Amino acid sequence: MAIQTNGIVVKSERIKSLYFLLEISCPPIANQIKPGQFIMLKISDDSSPLLRRPFSVYKSYPTSHPEKKNRGRFIIIYKKVGKGTQKMTEFKIGQKADLIGPLGNGFTLPAPPSSKIIFIGGGVGIVSLYPLAEALGRKNAMVFIGGKTKNDILCVEDFKRLKSKPYIATEDGSLGYKGTVIDLFLSQKGKFKNDDSCSVYSCGPAEMLKGLVRIIESNRFYCEVSLEARMACGFGACWGCVVKTNDSEAPYQRVCKEGPVFNIKNIIWE
Ligand SMILES: Cc1cc2nc3c(=O)[nH]c(=O)nc-3n(C[C@H](O)[C@H](O)[C@H](O)COP(=O)(O)OP(=O)(O)OC[C@H]3O[C@@H](n4cnc5c(N)ncnc54)[C@H](O)[C@@H]3O)c2cc1C
Ligand code: FES
Repeated sequence: MAIQTNGIVVKSERIKSLYFLLEISCPPIANQIKPGQFIMLKISDDSSPLLRRPFSVYKSYPTSHPEKKNRGRFIIIYKKVGKGTQKMTEFKIGQKADLIGPLGNGFTLPAPPSSKIIFIGGGVGIVSLYPLAEALGRKNAMVFIGGKTKNDILCVEDFKRLKSKPYIATEDGSLGYKGTVIDLFLSQKGKFKNDDSCSVYSCGPAEMLKGLVRIIESNRFYCEVSLEARMACGFGACWGCVVKTNDSEAPYQRVCKEGPVFNIKNIIWE
C-alpha cells in the first residue's frame, strides 16, 4: 500500500553526462516496492517545482537483504531534463526526501512460461526493466538498450551480471548498432522469428513503443510496456495521466493507477 513518508538521502552523484543516481534510505518503501512500480518525490520545500515528480525504482534492498549496509535503501537513476531534476542534482547526503510510494502496478510476475525473455529499453527507460530482470532471474535474456548517443546507454554492466546478452543501439552510431533500438531489435528478429513464446518487456519514449507495436502485432509475443506520462498527483486522483485503451468497460485508464505497466495490445496509440 502506498504511503507518504520521509527518507534520508544517502548518496547523490552524477553517473555520466546528464544522468544521476540518488540513493535513499527508506525502509517502508524499500520493503514493499515491486519491479515496475514508482515513487513520487517532492523536490523542494518551496513551490518550485510545486508538483512531485515520478521515478521508477532501479534497485531496492529490503531490510531482510543479505547486504547489511544497503538494507532499507532504494536507488533511482534520473536524467536531468528540467527544473525539478536540475534541483535534484543539488540534493545533499543527510537531507530529507519526502516520498509517496510504492505507486502503480508493476510488471506481471512470474512471467508466462517462455523460451525467451526480451527487454527493450530506450534512454532512461531501461532503468525500470532492471529490477524485473533481477526478479525473473532468467539467464540468457536478450536486452536491447538504445539511446541517442553513447552517453545515453545505461545499465549494460548490470544486465551482464545477470547473464543477459546486451545489444546496444545509438542513433548517432557512437556505440553499437547505428539506428534506433527498434531497428536493432528488428535486425535480430531472425533469432526468434519462429518462436511464439517470447515475452517482451519494454520502457522508453512513446515513439519507440509505437515502433514496437507493429512488431508485436505481426508476431504472437506477449508484451508489457511501462508508460511515461506527465503526472500531477501520481495516485489516481486527478485523471491527468490517462491513456486510451481498448477495454470497453474502462476505455480511459490512469498511467499512475492502472499502469504504468500495460499489455501493449490494450493501448490505443494516438
Ligand atoms: C512512472 C514514471 C517513471 C519514471 N521514471 C523515471 C526514471 O526512473 N528516471 C528518469 O530520469 N525519469 C523518469 N521519469 C520521467 C521523470 O518523471 C521526468 O523526467 C521528470 O518528472 C522531469 O521533471 P523536471 O521538472 O526535471 O522536468 P520538467 O521541467 O517538468 O520538464 C522538462 C522536459 O521533460 C519532459 N517531461 C517531463 N516529465 C515527463 C514525463 N513524465 N514523460 C515524458 N516527458 C516528460 C517535458 O515535456 C519537458 O520537455 C518517469 C516518469 C514516470 C511517469
Ligand atoms: S497523475 Fe493524477 S491520476 Fe494519474
